[in-house]
Amino acid sequence: MVSFQFHLPVQIRFGKGRIQDLQSIIGDRFKRILIVTDKGVAEKSRALEAILPQMQDYHVTLFNQVEQNPSYKTLEKGREVVHRDDIELIIGLGGGSPMDAAKGIAVLAKNEKTMQEYMAGEPLDADPLPIICIPTTSGTGSEVTPFAVFTDTEEQVKDAFSHPQIFPAVSIIDPELTYTVSKTVIANTALDVLTHAIEAYFSKDAQPFTDAMVLEAIPLVLEALAPAIKHNEDAMEKMAYASLLAGMAIAHCSTILLHAMAYPLTTMHRVPHGKANGILLPAFLKFMRKSSTIKERVAVIEQLFETVGGVEAFLDGLKISHKLTDYGVESSELDIFVKKVIVKEDLKITPANITEKIIKSIYESTM
Ligand SMILES: [Fe+2]
Repeated sequence: MVSFQFHLPVQIRFGKGRIQDLQSIIGDRFKRILIVTDKGVAEKSRALEAILPQMQDYHVTLFNQVEQNPSYKTLEKGREVVHRDDIELIIGLGGGSPMDAAKGIAVLAKNEKTMQEYMAGEPLDADPLPIICIPTTSGTGSEVTPFAVFTDTEEQVKDAFSHPQIFPAVSIIDPELTYTVSKTVIANTALDVLTHAIEAYFSKDAQPFTDAMVLEAIPLVLEALAPAIKHNEDAMEKMAYASLLAGMAIAHCSTILLHAMAYPLTTMHRVPHGKANGILLPAFLKFMRKSSTIKERVAVIEQLFETVGGVEAFLDGLKISHKLTDYGVESSELDIFVKKVIVKEDLKITPANITEKIIKSIYESTM
């Protein structure tokens, strides 16, 4: 008997040119707006060119200091700006980092404690400021999730904040905004989409709606990635759609062991997030094939990869090594990685028995 719950309180506007909807979405309810972005987006993409002419009736502050893997310090800087300029609405513009930072700043704008305290379980005293997300890459799915990932730069730890109040109110997914993204970023973010879809499909929280999204998203990525890397516009539109589907799936199922194991590669070796997931994907699939309680689901995913010659051939085609030693990881570090992974909540919804020994053996199999 099937029983499930689905809740996605985000108004989604998808399609080429939909960025032009922004002014009508904001209307006259808000006057003081903060755009949270990073220097790359602010300087290179066409997004600001499309947005700023629509902003003439508003008081707009541009906060472009978000780094890759936003830190708690950046959120505090954002809180100061919000209070200084009496901000009423926050727009997160860019890849996952600016959108996640926008969510964190929206929380801190209306709540006095630190983000670490809220992540440790302190309840929010007030609703965050409303958030509009505008992705410029096809990857994170942050535009449709109640998650934001932040990095403790001193402890080299990435953690996700999850709260139903940080769903964006509106997300505009305009594939034209992704056209200026580099080939490398297209490949890395596609690996994020794929692993979101795969982990959602394997999660103990998987359900019929998310299964449908995943099984639509994965073939789209496998088919569209090669032309998308060559900046074929129809393929880039497919990637944006696949990213949205995978994002909606993880909003309900979360990510599982693979994302948890990839985080140390990013915090300790600066491997980009999506790529870190891709590097560990063959070893993760092998472990799940042998030791999970959902072997028939693993077979479904492996069959999908057969259309491109298997997962290892797929990574080889992207020129992405799946050996950790190629990224400077040494055997002596693996115990530190394991300690960072074993505490993650994501392990509870991974349908396999996960111990420190098992995590270490998966890492070791990739050395
Ligand atoms: Fe991800």
